[in-house]
Amino acid sequence: MPDAPRTPLVAANWKMNKTRAEARAFLDSFLPQAAELVGTDVAICPPFTALEAAIERCGGTPVVVAAQNAHHEASGAFTGEVSPTMLVELGAWGAIAGHSERRQLFGETDAALALKVPALLDAGLVPILCVGETEEERDAGRTEEVLRRQVEADLDGVEPARLAEVVIAYEPVWAIGTGRNATAAQAVDAIGFIRSLVSGRDRAAAEAVRILYGGSVKAGNAAELLGGEGIDGALVGGASLDPEEFVEICRAARQ
Ligand code: PGA
Repeated sequence: MPDAPRTPLVAANWKMNKTRAEARAFLDSFLPQAAELVGTDVAICPPFTALEAAIERCGGTPVVVAAQNAHHEASGAFTGEVSPTMLVELGAWGAIAGHSERRQLFGETDAALALKVPALLDAGLVPILCVGETEEERDAGRTEEVLRRQVEADLDGVEPARLAEVVIAYEPVWAIGTGRNATAAQAVDAIGFIRSLVSGRDRAAAEAVRILYGGSVKAGNAAELLGGEGIDGALVGGASLDPEEFVEICRAARQ
């Protein structure tokens, strides 16, 4: 499939890190350097409590802010949850959905994601849908089976015409927070497979949809990983907490 001109996206997943003051300090250092990143989209995903501070700081810059999760309902008796409508009111651009930590530690299921992903789109948010196999699944030769199950189920409620608005992140669970990134070849293969699954739903969407790699991306390996064919950017955890390192990763996406 010829590579359509897709704008690379580098997203910082801060997980449960950074107070509001720390988020502001990061952005005060990062944003002046981000001005040079023309041609690369950059998203910051702080915890809920720092969203508003980050959105304020990023106002008037090209950097966008996304949440790390959201519920699929607009309101209701869901203690501890935050709705897409609430995120839109703050000025959020999107939300991560189905991160492996939410799947593994908080019991998020494909059935929940099948509701969440279309709910985010309907609210006007960009879903960053995370999929990926565990080490055990890879060793058992089940990577494609797992990716197929997740991609098909999680995007089931999205109409073909809107598939290209979703961002998909291929995040092998064994590479997250382990310092052991996938090789560029492994990432290219898995991302190509995910694109073929989207193509099964809609060919044009498959050419337009952005598919990122995530899992131990650092300044030192970003150029190699982001240079892989069909890899449209990165979802970065640990290495996104430091503004200097994160800007280097964003620069690598531009090349
Ligand atoms: P990591 O996390 O970069 O720290 O491996 C990536 C992620 O969880 O999105």
